[in-house]
This record gives sequence, structure tokens and C-alpha cells, in this order.
Amino acid sequence: MSSKVAVVTGSNKGVGFAIVRALCKQFPGDVYLTSRDDSRGQAAVQALEKEGLHPKYHQLDINDHSSIVTLRDFLQTTYGGLDVLVNNAAIACKRELPEPEPDDTPFGEQIEMTCKTNYFATLDVCDVLFPLLRPHARVCNVSSGACKMAFDKISQALKDKLFQPDIEISELSDTVKAFVKAAKNNTHLEEGFTDRGYDFSKLCLNIMTEIHQKEMDKTGKIDVIINSCSPGYVATDMVRNKGDLTIDEGAVTPTYIALLPPNVKEPRGKFLRNKKVANEWKQ
Ligand SMILES: NC(=O)c1ccc[n+]([C@@H]2O[C@H](COP(=O)([O-])OP(=O)(O)OC[C@H]3O[C@@H](n4cnc5c(N)ncnc54)[C@H](OP(=O)(O)O)[C@@H]3O)[C@@H](O)[C@H]2O)c1
Repeated sequence: MSSKVAVVTGSNKGVGFAIVRALCKQFPGDVYLTSRDDSRGQAAVQALEKEGLHPKYHQLDINDHSSIVTLRDFLQTTYGGLDVLVNNAAIACKRELPEPEPDDTPFGEQIEMTCKTNYFATLDVCDVLFPLLRPHARVCNVSSGACKMAFDKISQALKDKLFQPDIEISELSDTVKAFVKAAKNNTHLEEGFTDRGYDFSKLCLNIMTEIHQKEMDKTGKIDVIINSCSPGYVATDMVRNKGDLTIDEGAVTPTYIALLPPNVKEPRGKFLRNKKVANEWKQ
């Protein structure tokens, strides 16, 4: 009941898989590889077992609220809490890949699907699992340097709204909903949004990270730290293996955030690249 536990979302392949591999080597507790599809997850666990590592497994589809609740209940019963959460699962629609592919899915639906997984489902995971976080817990939201492209494209009015010092999650979520609605009406550009769902969802994930740290500090929970990061440009399916980093190199900064030692003063509620705080995404 008292052993420590770490969970990595979307970890059957890519950067998430390598984060599990790194945590299995460095985290003093049980590490859960999770996947939306059981067979893909079990195959990934077997691959790590062949390396002499011992990840545990639980199903998790972050788009399915009941799947998140099932995981929460399991963690509560088995461990009585949670020590590390890595929100890694995400998608990019075909139109936004390094070599874009044609996609018959209407533009607004592509934006909706991307924001659903990368923003709303990640928020749902936080809402359901945060109450389990124990003192000294660490949360890493795997974001992207692409958030800077969204920042550069959106209107000043939207920047003023998103970067108010006291913005709350409800207002941030309303803005993401407004983006999806505008994309469906094809008014996204005139309303000051960008035309890329991935970049905007990651921009809002960074802002969510800042808000969550402030909220967490107000709860009085001891030394719970939430950061986001770019893994770098990593050769994975998401970018058609174009990236210049291996998945293990991509896992370095997320793993660093997940393993920040007790009572560090910084980074807290920040966006990191290469293990360093980076502020250019909002400048
Ligand atoms: N690769 C890069 O260069 C790069 C750059 C910047 C940021 N990132 C970020 O790094 C993270 C990992 O990306 P990656 O490159 O490793 O991509 P990837 O190889 O496509 O892996 C994405 C993972 O997320 C899972 N996933 C997607 N939707 C899910 C859902 N609803 N529930 C649970 N799991 C879900 C996928 O599962 P399935 O196998 O079932 O699809 C897969 O395991 C993402 O947050 C991505 O945005 C990547």
C-alpha cells in the first residue's frame, strides 16, 4: 500500500514508451505503462521485459472518462495515492504532420479531435487523478515547442485574454471551445485564432500547467510540482520518424521533471526544454 507509483499516459510507443523505460531504471517504485489498446500495451510491456525491466500495465484511454476513473480507483485501492503522473498521450492530425497528408475529415472536426485529446482529455486526467497526488508528487505535461507558433499567430486580444495573470481553467477551456466552434464555422482566423489545432492545444496545455501549479499551491498540498516540456524533435510515428532525436533522448526532459528531487524551488509551473526553463513560447 505504501510503495511509490508512477503513471505515464500513451506509453505503448514513442516518447511515452521511452519515459517508462527511463523511469523503470530510475524511479524507486512501480511504473505503469498505459495504453488505450490493451494488446499494444501488453506488447510494449513485453518489449521492456526483454530488456530486464519490469513495468506494470493498466489500460487508459484518456478520451474515455470511465477509463480514467477505473485507473483512479485502481491506484487508490492498490497504492492509496500517486507519486508521478506524466501526461504524454497526444495526437496530431494528418494535415499538421511534417509532410501533410490529405484528410477527408472536415477541418473543424480535425481541430475538435486534436483539442479533445491534447487539451480536454489531459485536463480530465488531471481533474480525476490530482486528488490522489501525495506530498512531493511530480506531474509532467509533455507539450511541444510548437506552442510558440500558436502564440505568434493568435491575435493580441486573444493573448491578452489567455495571459491574464488570474486566468482560471474555466476561462481557458471556454477559449479552447471557442476555437473549435470557430474552426467549424471557418471563422477561426478572423476571430484571432490559428489554423493549427496541435499548436494551439499545446499552447493551452502550457497555460493549464501554470494555472494548475497555482491552484495546487493554494490547496496546501506539500511540494507537489507541475511542469510542462518539449521533448525535442523526436523520431516517432507522430512526426513520421522525421525527428532528429531518439525516443530515449526525447524522454530526458520529461523524466527529469518526473524525478525532480524533494523541495526544489524551481522549476514550478514552467515550460522546459533540454532540462531548462524556456519562456520564449509566450514572448
Ligand atoms: N515526436 C516529436 O517530435 C514531438 C515533438 C514535440 C512534442 N511531442 C509530444 O510528445 C508526446 C509523445 O508523442 P510521440 O511523438 O511519442 O507520438 P506517438 O509515437 O504518436 O505516440 C503517441 C502516444 O499517445 C497515445 N495516445 C493517443 N491518443 C490517446 C488516447 N486517447 N488515450 C491514450 N493514449 C493515447 C498513442 O497510442 P496509440 O498507439 O494507441 O495511438 C501513443 O502511445 C506527445 O504529447 C507529443 O505531442 C512529440
